[in-house]
Amino acid sequence: MDEFVIDGGRRLRGTYQVNGSKNSALPILIATLLTDEDCVLDNVPALRDIRTTFRLLETLGKKVEVSGKRVKVTYGKALVTHAPYDIVKQMRASILVAGPLLARFGKVRVSLPGGCAIGLRPVDIHVKGLEAMGAAASTKEGDVYLTGALEPSKVRFRFPSVGATENVMMAAAAVEGETVIENAAREPEIEDLGHFLTSLGARVTGAGTSRVVVRGAERLKGAHHRVIADRIESGTLLVAVAAAGGDVTLKGAVPSHLTALIKALRRAGAKVSEVKGGLRVRAAGRPKAVNVVTEPHPGFPTDVQAPWMAYMTLAKGVSRVKEAIFERRFLHAAELARMGARIEAHSESAVVTGVPELSGAAIMASDIRAGAGLVVAALAAKGRTVIQRVYHIDRGYERLELVLRGLGARMRRLR
Ligand code: UD1
Repeated sequence: MDEFVIDGGRRLRGTYQVNGSKNSALPILIATLLTDEDCVLDNVPALRDIRTTFRLLETLGKKVEVSGKRVKVTYGKALVTHAPYDIVKQMRASILVAGPLLARFGKVRVSLPGGCAIGLRPVDIHVKGLEAMGAAASTKEGDVYLTGALEPSKVRFRFPSVGATENVMMAAAAVEGETVIENAAREPEIEDLGHFLTSLGARVTGAGTSRVVVRGAERLKGAHHRVIADRIESGTLLVAVAAAGGDVTLKGAVPSHLTALIKALRRAGAKVSEVKGGLRVRAAGRPKAVNVVTEPHPGFPTDVQAPWMAYMTLAKGVSRVKEAIFERRFLHAAELARMGARIEAHSESAVVTGVPELSGAAIMASDIRAGAGLVVAALAAKGRTVIQRVYHIDRGYERLELVLRGLGARMRRLR
């Protein structure tokens, strides 16, 4: 299994072109299930989760051709309506096939994702949303079965789940008439999916606000779409530069997708400025202690919580990190402690007492973003850090060692 070896203490400098968004590409790829016509997607990142999605689409009957960042999804054979466990267990987001397949074929069977390192992550909001559109749901032997002819409806979520919003939007796109989603998630990825569904021939308005209106059509056509920039990759790199020191420009990063993080970085003392076509970040010594609470967008993103905590371990003073989206999302705290960080982690919040420096250690990634947090700490630390279980990081960051080496880090992958 691969490891990262990082010799910390080098400033990061230069320019980097941000990748396409994983969390956008994923539902958009799945939305190609809504049509038999050809779809061409650009700016698709080469990541493990994306390759898993290709396999999922192929298992269901689609043909997928990849050339660089361009992916063409075409008709392969008549679609099947069962997403098997061996794929779902690798990637929870496989549940997103439920909406489009159910809407088109009146039935779908998806294995339940099961537990995962960052908490329970149930799918009740997805299922209730589809039930509100007329589906009947049952579970048998670890699979959820949904059947029924969907109708345009009013769906109100108890919580603005990103995946559930996407699932119901996709279902509604294939149902003639107007479906209204209330308390919808407002993430930029939802807006991107809305644009794609509109180019397929549905009409989506309000995506990116808490009320999304989808005017569906029985038959959808093919489309060409460019995936938005990855705000989490951007955010991780902004924090990495602030923590390790340096001056980096991220081309393609979208400031309006990163408002809460930019505000927190500025309060901590880092200089973040909008430049033409991107963002520039300049570090300014030890950060001030700044509290953050993770929230649904536009609040502080839970996916940047671990990198942020790594940054705050070096702050002058005591800060608090409250995780309000996922339970059990502080697995990185114990690893950071091995590097000399002082963190008191409880179930929902952690208190971080800043130390003047971290030192390299042997540590282990437990999920995508926790892994990214460890990389940030390693870049800022004195000495050598070896990070194991890099496959978690590879799910969400494309060749992170090359990205950071390009910016001057001493970092390599051991196979
Ligand atoms: C998406 C992102 C993930 C990000 C998360 C929150 C993708 C592929 N993944 O995940 O990177 O961390 O948004 O910004 O886009 N919940 C339920 N019942 C449900 C659904 C969710 O209780 O039916 C809970 C979850 O357990 C979690 C919270 O709601 O505690 C947020 O989940 P959700 O917004 O659905 O996140 P995902 O779509 O899984």
